[in-house]
Amino acid sequence: MRVSQALADEARRCLIVDDEPGMRAVLRRLMTADGFECIEAASGAEALAVLETTPVPIVLSDFHMPGMDGGELMRAIHARWPLVAVVIITAVADVTIAVRCLEAGALDYLTKPFGSDEVRARVLQALEKRRLLCENQAYRDRLEERVALQARKYEQLFLASLQSLADALEVKDAYTWGHSTRVCLYAMAIARELGLTQPLLEQLELGSRLHDIGKIGVREAVLNKAGPLTDAEYAHIMEHPVIGWKLLAPLLGEMPHALAVVRSHHERWDGQGMPDRLRGQEIPLEARITAVADSFDAMTSGRPYRDGMSVEDAVAELRRCAGTQFDPQCVAGFERALERRSFPWPDWSVRRHTRLQVA
Ligand SMILES: [Fe+2]
Repeated sequence: MRVSQALADEARRCLIVDDEPGMRAVLRRLMTADGFECIEAASGAEALAVLETTPVPIVLSDFHMPGMDGGELMRAIHARWPLVAVVIITAVADVTIAVRCLEAGALDYLTKPFGSDEVRARVLQALEKRRLLCENQAYRDRLEERVALQARKYEQLFLASLQSLADALEVKDAYTWGHSTRVCLYAMAIARELGLTQPLLEQLELGSRLHDIGKIGVREAVLNKAGPLTDAEYAHIMEHPVIGWKLLAPLLGEMPHALAVVRSHHERWDGQGMPDRLRGQEIPLEARITAVADSFDAMTSGRPYRDGMSVEDAVAELRRCAGTQFDPQCVAGFERALERRSFPWPDWSVRRHTRLQVA
């Protein structure tokens, strides 16, 4: 609980813990005279039960009690409510115990017999120490909030610069303008159908947007070649998952699932894919999802020299390759997302050009 909230919740309230009713009555009288609302507890366990339901800034506790003694009670209180001030009450002969309690976190102690002035002085002193502790904690809370805010801003800037990298790639590749955005859209729709958790969804979103980033390292003459590729050219293009993975690995150390998408989106369910020839469930789920999304967009995207495939034909092709190229559950997830219209129906008749060409 935040300190400011704790301070707002609690009243001028005092918890008196002693197994002797007479001693509790004396303390109650003294504290009530100083304007405190008093709650009594006859044991440590009873005191903890009170604290579970009632915010209390200060606890006055006898040390010698059957069962849980004052020292144990203080440790239990500090473990759960570190900002509750505890004042331990001991007999004169137990000063060493009092000192040990102070070392262990009690904010002050009282020795019996005590007078009203002494009780008042000790309580005020303990409350003042507690106020300083609360201020210190509130300062730390504010600092943590500011650090977290800065970290979020830094993360957003970092993701924006990665997105710029992906955009730079699409300008370079004449046929893929908007490809990564659409792949991301389809991949996220599949992932939601498969019930992926939020942290995984976030990594999939980033990974699918950046999945082809390694094409930055592919020669433009090969990337933009309109005709069929030679074996050597195909091999060169298919280096892009590893190039992308090497490029991003130093930046995405804390996002291994996003990195897995980049490296493994050309793996195949039957183990005949690239670059690691992973098979079936060995392929990270997020990469299997992206493979389906990627292929669907490639099939339904027009080229300057041809129309894209119709959605129905592309889905039939995905279904035909489920169990060989694609994970069947990812294909099924994609079909469910498509039926639900989870994303805009692709306009396969549009022949895609680069933004530069359009301009
Ligand atoms: Fe790719």
